[in-house]
Amino acid sequence: RVPAPCALVVFGIGGDLSRKKLIPAVYDLANRGLLPTDFVLVGFSKTDWPGGGSFESLARKSAKDGARTAWNEEVWRRLASNTVFVEGSFDDDAAFDTLAETLADSQRSHGIQGNAAFYLSIPPKLFPTVLQQMERTGLADSDAADGWRRVVVEKPFGHDLPSALDLNHLVDRVFSARDVYRIDHYLGKETVQNLLALRFANQLFEPVWNGNFVDSVQITMAEDVGIGGRAAFYQATGAARDVLQNHLLQLLALTAMEEPVEFSPEAVRIEKIKALRAISLPTDLGPYAVRGQYDQGWLAGTRACAFTAEDGIPEDSTTETYAAVRLGVETRRWAGVPFYLRTGKRLPKRVTEISVLFKKAPHLPFSRTDTQELGHNQLVIRVQPDEGVTLKFGSKVPGSAMEVRDVAMDFLYGEAFTESSPEAYERLILDVLVGDATLFPRSEEVEASWRVIDPLENFWAGQEPQLYRAGEWGPKAADEMLARDGRQWRRP
Ligand code: BG6
Repeated sequence: RVPAPCALVVFGIGGDLSRKKLIPAVYDLANRGLLPTDFVLVGFSKTDWPGGGSFESLARKSAKDGARTAWNEEVWRRLASNTVFVEGSFDDDAAFDTLAETLADSQRSHGIQGNAAFYLSIPPKLFPTVLQQMERTGLADSDAADGWRRVVVEKPFGHDLPSALDLNHLVDRVFSARDVYRIDHYLGKETVQNLLALRFANQLFEPVWNGNFVDSVQITMAEDVGIGGRAAFYQATGAARDVLQNHLLQLLALTAMEEPVEFSPEAVRIEKIKALRAISLPTDLGPYAVRGQYDQGWLAGTRACAFTAEDGIPEDSTTETYAAVRLGVETRRWAGVPFYLRTGKRLPKRVTEISVLFKKAPHLPFSRTDTQELGHNQLVIRVQPDEGVTLKFGSKVPGSAMEVRDVAMDFLYGEAFTESSPEAYERLILDVLVGDATLFPRSEEVEASWRVIDPLENFWAGQEPQLYRAGEWGPKAADEMLARDGRQWRRP
C-alpha cells in the first residue's frame, strides 16, 4: 500500500506529539519504502523550538531518537530535501497564505497532484482558528485543488458531549465527513487489531464469547509514568477524559461488538457504534465509579512525588489520575456480564490488557482437595508490553493422583512472527494517506462515548478523588468495588 503523490502538513510540528511520534513515524514510513516518491512534508509552527536550533536539526533529532527502523542517512537526506517549513502562528493570515502558496509550489515542483492531509497536532482550543484559516484560504477545498484533502484530528475530541458536537459540526463544515480522520492511536496498535482477528478469524472463541460462558471482562490500561511535561493539559482533562472516553471505550467496543459484514470502515463503524450505544452505567454509581489521585510513593526504587506536587499542578487539584468503573453492555450477548474498566498513572507497571474471565465448569468429577487451585478459564489479550495472548486452563499435574492445577498457554508476538510491527502512528498516518478510515472513530462513536462519560463526570463533580500511593494499584475503593461483586482485579 503506497499512497498516491501527496503532501502531509503538520500543524504544531514543534510540539511534543510531533517530535516524539509523528516525525519518527514519517521517517519509518520513508525507510520502509511506504511513501510515494513524490511526497512533501510541510511543518507549520512558530520557531520557539524546545532547545533552540533549526527546524532541520529538530526534525532530524526527533526522527533519529524515535525511529523504530534502523537509521539510514540517505533516507533521511531524501526526506529532508522534500521537507518544507512554514513559520507562523495560527491566527496569522499571511502565514496561511504562504502555506497555500507552498502547497501550490510543491504541486508544480514535486508533482503532489493536489493531494494533501492536514494533521492538527495542536491543542483543541486552536482547532477553530486553524479550521477557519483553512476554509478562508481554500486549503480544504479538494475540487479547487483537484486532488484529495483530508484532515487528521487528535484527541481529545471535545471535553463533553456538547463541546464534541460543536467540534464535529465545525470540522464537518470545512471538510466532508469522509475526509475527517480522528486519531485514537490505540486502534493503530497491532494487538488491538488482533482482537478482531482472534474473534472473527477463528472458530474457537466466538461460540463462548457471551454471557452464557463469560463471567466478566476486565480492561486495564496502567501506566507507571506520571504526567510528564503535560501539566496544563492533564490538570484540565483527568484520566476519564484522557483515556477512558477514547482508548478504553474503543477496546470495550472491539471486545463486545458483533461481527462486521466485512472489514471496511462503514461495516466496522456500524458494529462499534451499536456496542457503544448499548453501554449502560450502574444505576447506583456510588460503589461502581471510582476516581483516584496519586500521592507520593515509590516506583522501581525511585521516589515519586504526589500529583499535587508536580510542576504546574495546583496544590489543591482534584483532577483524577485514576478512574475505574463498572459498565454493562445491554445486548442479548452480554446481558448480565460486567465490564470493569480501569486506568491510572503511577501504577506499578505499564500494561494494557483485556482479560475475559469465563465461568467455572458447572461440575467437577474430581475430588475437591485435588482441584483446590483451579480457577476460571481466562483469556488475556496483552495489548502491551509482551504483546500476545494467554489462555489459562486446568491441567493434570504429573503423578499417580488425578490432581488438576491451572496452567497457562502463551502466544507471544515476538516469538511467533519475525516481521517487526509498525508503531501505531506509522500505521495510522499511512492509512490517512491511502484513504483507509477503518481504524478511525467516526463522529457518532465519539458522541456515544461522551454519553457514557458525561454522567460519570457529573457524578464526580465536586467530589475529592481518593488518594493512592504512587507505585500501588489504585485506591482501595477500586478493590472494594470488585470485592462487592465477589471478584478481584487481575494483577497483570
Ligand atoms: C495518550 C494519553 O492518549 O495515551 C496519555 O493522552 C497516555 O496520557 C498515552 O500516556 C499512552 O499511550 P501508550 O501508547 O504509551 O500506551
